[in-house]
Amino acid sequence: MHRRDFVKGALGAGLASSVPLELVLPISQAAQAAARQRVPYGAAIRTDFLETDPHYAEAVRKYCQIVVGEGGLKWIDLRPSRSSFEFDQPDRLIAFADANGMTMRGHTLIWYAAMPDWTVEIDTAKEAEFELIHHIEVVVGRYRGRIPNWDVVNEPISEDPDKEGPLRDSIWLQQLGEDYIELAFRTAAATDQNTQLVLNDFDFEKATPVSRKRRSLMLDLLKKLKDRDVPVHALGLQGHLTGEAEIDKDGLSRFVEDAHGLGLDILVTELDVIDNNLPANQGVRDQIAAMRVNDYLSAICDVVEPKSILTWGLSDKYTWVPIWFSRRDGLPNRPLPLDENYQPKAMMQVLQEFTQAGS
Ligand code: G3I
Repeated sequence: MHRRDFVKGALGAGLASSVPLELVLPISQAAQAAARQRVPYGAAIRTDFLETDPHYAEAVRKYCQIVVGEGGLKWIDLRPSRSSFEFDQPDRLIAFADANGMTMRGHTLIWYAAMPDWTVEIDTAKEAEFELIHHIEVVVGRYRGRIPNWDVVNEPISEDPDKEGPLRDSIWLQQLGEDYIELAFRTAAATDQNTQLVLNDFDFEKATPVSRKRRSLMLDLLKKLKDRDVPVHALGLQGHLTGEAEIDKDGLSRFVEDAHGLGLDILVTELDVIDNNLPANQGVRDQIAAMRVNDYLSAICDVVEPKSILTWGLSDKYTWVPIWFSRRDGLPNRPLPLDENYQPKAMMQVLQEFTQAGS
């Protein structure tokens, strides 16, 4: 029996019984862990807490080979005004990564969201083109040779394409049409020829009409870019899983296979489980979350091994989920592989099964 099947069996066998956490393999520091990794694992980081919460920093060192700023490289953080850049946060995170033998991913260059107020002033195609190119040249240029991959365009497919049209509304789409995507990738490639350029998006894993439509639109977009020799190198699957929704394993596997068939690497970039509609019982909730992650990663890994797997946060102590998906019963969300006290949950065991050598 494959170990993944075993884990799935163990998780499915009794949702109410606790997973034997002693099975979670003990890992020491980043370098030691890296030697054991088949697929590098990492997490989105809140840089300020890394510096003020020693237990958090210790957990990141213990588990991660890759870090990515949960913020810091977004326009809202980097661009306080049209003429200035504020690199303090990403500079501190990349220094942490360097000091601990990790790498830092770049998230993100062009996104519809997290834009500072001054960007409403960008109201002609000429200005939009100038700002997009200037931003990418300055930011990618600053970290040239140090950031191995960038989310160049984040979330370009609209949330509900039948209602909103295929592409997500943004100042970039409004001013430049869909060519903004090509322009962003070409500018990034010209600025750092050795970094991997990623198109990153979410909601490809559900058995819903919306998810199916989004898969098909993303494949159409990728084909179009590839036909035009646009330097897009990888598809980033965010993986913000909906706790109560089954994974459409066949649909997801086919999608990943098709994207890979276009010559793209596959990365899992923002995995977590949105648990606002899951049962209150902690053990049950954690096991359902672990099972979703197992289903999601097996659907992907059955066809292509991702180049890296990152969760969007490491510990339940620091997560974006309650901003949008707090629970009605007031209980804290538990979307991540470590609990609020940095103890590994069943989800960490699943992640280790998919990332460590010999699994
Ligand atoms: O830090 C301030 C805090 O000082 C203040 O008191 C508080 C009051 O609202 O806000 C805090 O900032 C919030 C920040 O998250 C904290 O990390 C911002 O309001 C909030 O907008 C920001 O949200 C982030 C969101 O992207 C927008 O940038 C989330 O942390 C971050 O997890 C989320 O990440 C996105 C990815 O970039 C793309 N994919 C989806 C993913 C989840 O939504």
